[in-house]
Amino acid sequence: MSHAGSYDRLTRLVTLGRRDRIYAGLAALTDAAPGEHAVDLGCGTGALTRALATRVGPRGLVTGIDPSEDMVAYASRTATPTIRYAVHPAEALPFRDESVHVVATALAMHHVDADQRPVAVAEAHRVLVPGGRLLVVDPPAAQPDCSAPDRRAHRARDGE
Ligand SMILES: C[S@@+](CC[C@H](N)C(=O)[O-])C[C@H]1O[C@@H](n2cnc3c(N)ncnc32)[C@H](O)[C@@H]1O
Repeated sequence: MSHAGSYDRLTRLVTLGRRDRIYAGLAALTDAAPGEHAVDLGCGTGALTRALATRVGPRGLVTGIDPSEDMVAYASRTATPTIRYAVHPAEALPFRDESVHVVATALAMHHVDADQRPVAVAEAHRVLVPGGRLLVVDPPAAQPDCSAPDRRAHRARDGE
């Protein structure tokens, strides 16, 4: 099973089968409304992306972005005319200024290099329309920075 497949299975297990309900609650915090464009930063296998899609409805659009080709390939199984996935990091968003109503991210910001997090937040601000909403769900700041060990773990896994 791919890393993305294992991650998807793990998220269903650790939430005791309530993952979709939990992400629906997170999506509700954004007030995403029918017809809006929402973006999920670090979408992984797309749980929050899909929850946002339920809120924006068939006239809206949700784009899940993630730098991991593996995650995006896995998430893309659930792509629809309303749900798109693309390989991009949070630090360089492929959207025009003031073109997005909601930017949301769950459990991904601590994966962004610490010195790049302000860049990612500035990018979210750039693409949001005036009055747009930003939701960041992440472990407390006291948690150790996992971006560097994470990269080392990936390199070890990939045999580098
Ligand atoms: C723990 S997973 C969370 C996935 C998903 N948001 C969820 O809640 O299940 C962290 C994700 O952050 C992604 N990620 C790593 N670096 C990133 C970056 N610079 N910008 C955006 N996402 C990043 C990883 O590829 C991974 O899919």
